[in-house]
Amino acid sequence: MIANKCLDIEVTVVDLDADRIKAWHTGHLPIYEPGLPEVLHPARDGLPGVRKPNLFFATDIQGAVAKADLIFLCVPTPTKLTGVGSGRAADMSYVEAAARMIAEVAKDDKIVVEKSTVPCRTAEDIRKVLAAVGRPGVNFDILSNPEFLAEGTAIKDLLEPDRVLIGSLKTRRGLQAAATLADVYGRWVPHERIITMNLWSVEMAKLAANALLAQRISSINSLSAVCEATGADIDEVSYACGLDSRIGSRMLKCSVGFGGSCYKKDVLSLVYIAETHNLPEVAAYWRGVVDINEDQKERFIKRIVKCLFSTLTNKKVAILGYAYKKDTGDTRESAAISIVNRLVRENAELRIYDPKVEETQVWQSLEETNDKTAFDVIKSRVTVCRTSYEACKDADAVVIATEWDEFSNKTSNRTPTPTPQPPILDSSNNFQIPPRKRSAGLVIRNPDTGNVVTFDKISPHAGPPGKPQSPFNGFSTTSQKLYEGSDSGNYTTSRSSRSSIVDTSTGSPVTNTNLTSPLTDASHDPMHGPSVTYCSDEGATTLSDEVGTSTLGSPGAYRPDIANFAKQAISIPSNTHTAKQSNPKITVSGELDKIEKLKKQGEAREKMDWSLVAQVMRRPMFVFDGRNIVDAEKLRQLGFWVEGIGKPGVGGLT
Ligand SMILES: NC(=O)c1ccc[n+]([C@@H]2O[C@H](COP(=O)([O-])OP(=O)(O)OC[C@H]3O[C@@H](n4cnc5c(N)ncnc54)[C@H](O)[C@@H]3O)[C@@H](O)[C@H]2O)c1
Repeated sequence: MIANKCLDIEVTVVDLDADRIKAWHTGHLPIYEPGLPEVLHPARDGLPGVRKPNLFFATDIQGAVAKADLIFLCVPTPTKLTGVGSGRAADMSYVEAAARMIAEVAKDDKIVVEKSTVPCRTAEDIRKVLAAVGRPGVNFDILSNPEFLAEGTAIKDLLEPDRVLIGSLKTRRGLQAAATLADVYGRWVPHERIITMNLWSVEMAKLAANALLAQRISSINSLSAVCEATGADIDEVSYACGLDSRIGSRMLKCSVGFGGSCYKKDVLSLVYIAETHNLPEVAAYWRGVVDINEDQKERFIKRIVKCLFSTLTNKKVAILGYAYKKDTGDTRESAAISIVNRLVRENAELRIYDPKVEETQVWQSLEETNDKTAFDVIKSRVTVCRTSYEACKDADAVVIATEWDEFSNKTSNRTPTPTPQPPILDSSNNFQIPPRKRSAGLVIRNPDTGNVVTFDKISPHAGPPGKPQSPFNGFSTTSQKLYEGSDSGNYTTSRSSRSSIVDTSTGSPVTNTNLTSPLTDASHDPMHGPSVTYCSDEGATTLSDEVGTSTLGSPGAYRPDIANFAKQAISIPSNTHTAKQSNPKITVSGELDKIEKLKKQGEAREKMDWSLVAQVMRRPMFVFDGRNIVDAEKLRQLGFWVEGIGKPGVGGLT
């Protein structure tokens, strides 16, 4: 974002991982993030007559660091796996190694910015290393400037951050360094959102923010367990609670558990900090946030087993979604990994489909979480599929592990996905930095300028196989280099609106209160099956209308011809592309390609047509909605048994 917004600043991203750097040079970026190509390409490639490239990717770490004025440390801080603090403490070896290298190569003064999430007082450790190893006469100023972006909405979060925190020592040099960094952000972030404060507070604020976010998810998830046991519906409970302005509605969506590279490790880091400061009650409190998350996954898995008549032997299960959340290809700590590992142990055959996770990434994540023997079993039981239909073919159950929009059958008034807006660059070459206006250590300005260049529609694509996903890698180094240009910071965003609706499961205005009690409705009895079956012509027609546009371009009505076609098209030998093959290759029938082509001709990223899925699954058909994204009633009418998180279903009431 700095490169995009500050044409006069040269940004060089360096990483030890040469493959990653190579990928950053291509059209196939190493991470999937909506809107990223639109922000990256103008800065990396330049725009003829408008701007020169000012974003570079390199493996010459020392060279880039030596030239830089500002050095952003974006190295990993994973949980330690051995030794003191194992399983809780942050592994600071990458940070220390980076600090040593900076000290060794720096020949002039540097501002070193902690971007990584680190334990409180890490800046002190970095200072000690820099002071001990650095050349005499070279000064280092250390700032804490943690990253608050969320994967999936990273571009919007960077364009319009809620806040930018900059922590520094309250010395003259410290404040000056903070002002320099505030200058950079001030090009596009309103000054009131750039906040400077005590270094230790900023380090702590990042850990605290992640802990609070994770705690909120664990809180709603813990309540979902109570809902399942009592017959309450967690989505309704969450909706009702969220209306309280003191509570608010965000981050109150229950799920099979949080994932991602940060929440768990940061909460555990906080646990360890509390332990080391002899605060066992505090440590236990935050430990509970992680424990509830693990328990949530475990309960969901047990529910699957229970509903499938307590045996998964010879059963096929489709896993829809493998990323830890939608709009990212990142699988780190994804709940899907736990689900797959556990269901394989129950002797199930699994077929995984995710729109953005590469097949090699799936295998890598499973290999990393299993010993060799277990992984060999996994390879013989897991297939990675190219489409959701292929995954669902002949399945006994579908497990929704990621909340990708395409898996939802809701047709209206869903909470819209915030789509990052393409950046708008100012193409006039009259950029000028107005004189600094300092107020409590902040620098404020953002010149308004003329001509506007917009970019085309977002067309994201997944990264190459085998790479962990991350919005930022290694170090970003910046150094002042003059390219004529400008920076307007003008952009618009569309905000999602939410209508005042009562039906929280569909998000639709309630027109028909056709509610049945799960406690009394025979359709919830697995021995009797759902009360409405998909094969009723009349019912199917109506239901298909409700499900929405067919993936084959026939909106609405049930089309036996299409269903039959789909049936044939999806008949692929079950072992066509398992990892058993030394070089797993996807082999699909011509029909499947045909169906894919037809889908592609239709509107972008079609939603799954559940009525087609109903044609090809084994009876009874189960859907385990780990994200509560489906309209369960509609699926029940198609003949599915639906088990949602925090919902009273067959597996919920014990
Ligand atoms: N991923 C996120 O969404 C996110 C958000 C906020 C904060 N953070 C924090 O940012 C930090 C990095 O997270 P990430 O997800 O980008 O990690 P990552 O593991 O995906 O990327 C880190 C990169 O640093 C490189 N690296 C390690 N040591 C290096 C060195 N000495 N020189 C050059 N490159 C080096 C690695 O090769 C790797 O590519 C962590 O502290 C994390 O908590 C991440």
